[in-house]
Amino acid sequence: MLKSNRKIRAAASGKGSKFAIAILAAGKGTRLKSKHPKVLHEVGGKPLLAHVISAARRVVPARDIYAIIGHEAHLVRQAVAATGVEFVVQKEQRGTGHAIMSARDALTNYDHVLVLSGDAPLISSSTIERIRDYHLVERAAMTILTALLDDPTGYGRVIRQAPGSDRVEAIVEQKSLKKSQQTIHEINSGFYAFDTEPLFEHIDQLAADNPHGELYLTDMAAILKKAKLRVLALQTPQPCEVMGSNTRAELVLLDRQMRATKCQQLMAAGVTVYYPETCVIDCEVEIGADTIIEPFVQLLGTTRIGADCRIRSFSVMKDCQLGDQVTVRPGTLGEQVRIGRGAVIGPYSHLRPGSDVGEGAHVGNFVEMKKARLGKNSKANHLTYLGDAEIGSGVNIGAGTITCNYDGVNKYTTVIEDGVFVGSDATLVAPIKVGQGAYIAAASCITDDVPSHSLALGRARQTIKEGWARERRDRLAQARETKKS
Ligand code: UD1
Ligand code: CA
Repeated sequence: MLKSNRKIRAAASGKGSKFAIAILAAGKGTRLKSKHPKVLHEVGGKPLLAHVISAARRVVPARDIYAIIGHEAHLVRQAVAATGVEFVVQKEQRGTGHAIMSARDALTNYDHVLVLSGDAPLISSSTIERIRDYHLVERAAMTILTALLDDPTGYGRVIRQAPGSDRVEAIVEQKSLKKSQQTIHEINSGFYAFDTEPLFEHIDQLAADNPHGELYLTDMAAILKKAKLRVLALQTPQPCEVMGSNTRAELVLLDRQMRATKCQQLMAAGVTVYYPETCVIDCEVEIGADTIIEPFVQLLGTTRIGADCRIRSFSVMKDCQLGDQVTVRPGTLGEQVRIGRGAVIGPYSHLRPGSDVGEGAHVGNFVEMKKARLGKNSKANHLTYLGDAEIGSGVNIGAGTITCNYDGVNKYTTVIEDGVFVGSDATLVAPIKVGQGAYIAAASCITDDVPSHSLALGRARQTIKEGWARERRDRLAQARETKKS
């Protein structure tokens, strides 16, 4: 068991307690049958590796974190470069032990190294700290985080020296288990702490004498034990945190687990999520209290939603910012969009990147916006395209209005100033400016700027041919009679 906090602090602050974190992330992930590197597969809307890095950064500064990359290294590096961690390249992927060998130069500058698995994204910073503290207090050479699983299939098993002892004899991989070892349910989580000195003194003893012909980091347990060093098991009370993702089925399971936890956290913070199992809410999404999320909603990326909002079914919001009291009606799509307080969107609106809907504004059914700003209390309620448009406040955009923003080569801006009334079915051929308080007659094609407070009409005058329809019907009827006779 853990000793007192005072003792931990003393051990952690003492001389010789410099920790690095190494994250194993070089593998190909053969079992996923994917062209993408394993650690870039996403759960909870974020790459596996990004989750592990987030947890690690809460324990040590980014400069002390080494991501060991190899397969498609440039892609992995690019995906997580912004976190500020260091990278070590493992040129050939010859196993988890070989991965740590590749990082020897970087890691020998530290007293200890915590090794994390890049494909086990549920690990929490508190569990990483627990391994660190246990390792320090118990003065171990290697501490292995273990877990008891109902179904340990696929994981390495931890062989203790004696039942109840925290001393470890060895870790045995699934494929090498002896019959008597097959009943062991205590698995190796793939998270460890090592003292770097004995680790690198003995690591060259690793041999590839296993079914995969790889150098297994797990074999360090037996090697260090043989050197009469302390190899300890620390069993986690949270076995779900160590789940790895070797297969698509495991990935999906982790994703579901992460999203379920996310919904529980949101609900604990005052958000109602109806039928949470139907909703897809990424782990970075933030939602204010008293907001209601209806079934089958997707909230993705960095989406932030204010308080007292209602997001109705079948809406998908990615990287959007919504103020308080916003209503998003069913079937709305939004990406990189800002929506002001009290606005009402949908049903079936399509808000593309760069759209900005002002406070209290309404965007209705089958309205598409792209790089368009709709000012405070303005309305575009039906069947409209607003692209590259600057629209002021209190503007009414009639049904079927189109901003013609593209001539096949370039995009042009439409400016509509405050208080303008655009009648239904108007086409506004950009670049164009409609001055404040102007009025556009319905069905107009507007090609020239409209001065403030004026009326613009751009349509052919209606003509009437009295009796024309009746005469035509009579003519046709007569022709049919003649044909019959
Ligand atoms: C590993 C452990 C197993 C443990 C399980 C926990 C070994 C030999 N086995 O098995 O005991 O129960 O994790 O999840 O360590 N990697 C590299 N370079 C390589 C090979 C792998 O960086 O040359 C990385 C992978 O990208 C992955 C991690 O190491 O992130 C673990 O490798 P993986 O092949 O998934 O090991 P498991 O079979 O899951
Ligand atoms: Ca794994």
